[in-house]
Amino acid sequence: MTVVISVANQKGGVGKTTLTLNLGYSLARSGRRVLLVDVDPQFNLTFGLIGMDVLKHEERNVGTVMMREADVEETIVEVEKNLHLLPSHLNLSAKEIEIINAYNRERRLQKAINPILPDYDYVLIDNPPSMGIFLVNSLTASDFVLIPLELSYFGVIGMQLMFNLMAMIRSETNESLSLLGLVPNKFTRQTKVPKTRLRELRETYPEAPILTTIPKAIALEKAQARGMSIFDYEPGGRAAKAFEKLTREVIGLVEGE
Ligand SMILES: Nc1ncnc2c1ncn2[C@@H]1O[C@H](COP(=O)(O)OP(=O)(O)OP(=O)(O)O)[C@@H](O)[C@H]1O
Ligand SMILES: [Mg+2]
Repeated sequence: MTVVISVANQKGGVGKTTLTLNLGYSLARSGRRVLLVDVDPQFNLTFGLIGMDVLKHEERNVGTVMMREADVEETIVEVEKNLHLLPSHLNLSAKEIEIINAYNRERRLQKAINPILPDYDYVLIDNPPSMGIFLVNSLTASDFVLIPLELSYFGVIGMQLMFNLMAMIRSETNESLSLLGLVPNKFTRQTKVPKTRLRELRETYPEAPILTTIPKAIALEKAQARGMSIFDYEPGGRAAKAFEKLTREVIGLVEGE
């Protein structure tokens, strides 16, 4: 059975793309067939995975697939064994208005990827930092939501916005959407603040599972700048170990191991 997971947070720069990319690599290397979907007009995930080749995808990208102008199978790119990408493109922001005016606008991504779901074990969707039509499509197409967040004051209270949106999606377009968990990112032990915020997070949202914490690590930034996964850039480092642990946790939750 295919599991579709939205990596989402309306707040920018919290690690959505980093999480999608590294969890994607890690799941693929554990033998799962993985499709990454980039619905962010900033196309950071696509650029991280295929670099300047993003320019070749003007006519074949997630936006043209959502508008039925391109075939989904012909649009998917193989990044490495078991790891495929449905790319974004810089024209995706222009597509947004077309999608908003299209029939069945909340379900266009779901319908577009439906025929290829049997080819994959996991579909991970990287979302933009906004609550627009792309995030609505992504959550409508998903079984689970994974929320990376920073342990700052606004990072913690901002979670309520995501929970409100998920409640709306459950009542309007996808009643089986569930929260896989929160992933505290950029964690540092240099001050007591993140630990205090982690406690506040538990107290404020007692129902929300809090998964493996990802440390703040320059290696993650450098890996992203070079378009590499943390497993290629610094295998065995703190960040790679944290992502491996998170992967085992996700597999356990999803596959019930
Ligand atoms: N644990 C970490 N330690 C250090 N740097 C990190 C960590 N996680 C992410 N970063 C860096 O923080 C920046 C933002 O991360 P990322 O692009 O993954 O966030 P995002 O939520 O996808 O952003 P956006 O909302 O713009 O899409 C990047 O430069 C990334 O390399
Ligand atoms: Mg991003």
